[in-house]
Amino acid sequence: MFKIAVLVSGNGTNLQAVIDYTKRKDAGASVKIVISDRPGAYALERAAREGIDHIIINRKTHKKTISDKILEQVKDCDLIVLAGFLSILSGDILKVFKNRIINVHPSLIPSFCGPNMYGRKVHEVALKKGVKVSGCTVHIVDEGTDTGPILVQKAIPVLEGDTPETLAERILPYEHQALCEAIEEFIKGRV
Ligand code: GAR
Repeated sequence: MFKIAVLVSGNGTNLQAVIDYTKRKDAGASVKIVISDRPGAYALERAAREGIDHIIINRKTHKKTISDKILEQVKDCDLIVLAGFLSILSGDILKVFKNRIINVHPSLIPSFCGPNMYGRKVHEVALKKGVKVSGCTVHIVDEGTDTGPILVQKAIPVLEGDTPETLAERILPYEHQALCEAIEEFIKGRV
């Protein structure tokens, strides 16, 4: 069984998509652990509801050690999925899990990404720029922020009158799809 660790900070709709995917009879994978860097993240409730091990490694109290603390918890996993996870990983975890950490980002990288670009802000800046197409990207995590090799992208038209909220809402289901497609590639050993 292919074991996945999912790191979260918020609502956890991407986590839910991964859980639902792994529950398919032929998936051959399971979510082994969910780790939140924020107490109170709704994603933790989703994990609890599904009977999945879940822990908090608080970014506020583990400012410098969060990556090492996470590594201690995920050692026996095959893949780490950042699903709306807002801390930046660094140090040994990037070496031990080289090419085995993926992230979902709500824009077409290399646009609207990098340090401090996450969640609503990404859509706000994209709309301000006047792009006609946006979307989402799943990529491998390396030492940079949103700089690793791209695995899956989905393009979505920006509509007249879009707000950061409506654009985010339209892109989100494509994130879920893109993330599961990328995970499937790993499970099948095609990455
Ligand atoms: C998603 O839109 C994800 O792409 C974004 O946070 C949201 C989390 O939603 N991540 C980033 O911006 C990371 N740079 P979710 O908690 O419902 O999955």
